[in-house]
Amino acid sequence: MDDIDYSQFPELGEVLVSKDVLHQTVQSLGRRIANDYTDRRPLLVCVLKGAFVFMADLARAIPFSVEVDFMAVSSYGASTTSSGVVRIVKDLDADISNRHVILVEDIVDSGLTMNYVRDLLLARGPASLEVCALLVRETVPHVDLTSLRYLGLTIPDDWVVGYGLDTDQRWRNLRDIRRWNVVDETPR
Ligand code: IMP
Ligand code: MG
Repeated sequence: MDDIDYSQFPELGEVLVSKDVLHQTVQSLGRRIANDYTDRRPLLVCVLKGAFVFMADLARAIPFSVEVDFMAVSSYGASTTSSGVVRIVKDLDADISNRHVILVEDIVDSGLTMNYVRDLLLARGPASLEVCALLVRETVPHVDLTSLRYLGLTIPDDWVVGYGLDTDQRWRNLRDIRRWNVVDETPR
């Protein structure tokens, strides 16, 4: 992927977050979590699919054993804007009651998905629940940012791909995060 010829892919715009900045950001989030959870064993919950790359790096940035689990949700309806009502496509394997859960999200956009998933997990009686999001939009209408304990970077209101984030399931495997250009193209 380092040798990718970007001129072949006009849909990939400029780098908004480089892989070096991603690395530093994830290391620093890992250190903060490690400091806060010295006497607790966290369960990292990945919201698929977008958070899978971030969580893989985050888990390895924490210098003690953590457990991981995965859930997948999708917004109801085909609208591109989040409806705020999400359906569980894949539920957790773990029973989270009395566990110290960290919900790991790729990006908080409107915040509706995060709020919904957080309420759903809270109803299962975890010992504690915090949210760790790699990205948040500059303008987040629905989120009280104090509820977002671990936050990586703030980005502008552009659609982005890479490092787990997709457009139509594509380009999750980019090492950095790039602006997505809408181009007239036939599907590859
Ligand atoms: P929200 O409910 O509006 O906060 O939507 C959050 C979800 O939308 C994220 O978990 C992502 O999967 C997706 N999303 C939001 N913005 C982007 C983006 O710029 N690129 C890729 N996915 C995005
Ligand atoms: Mg997505």
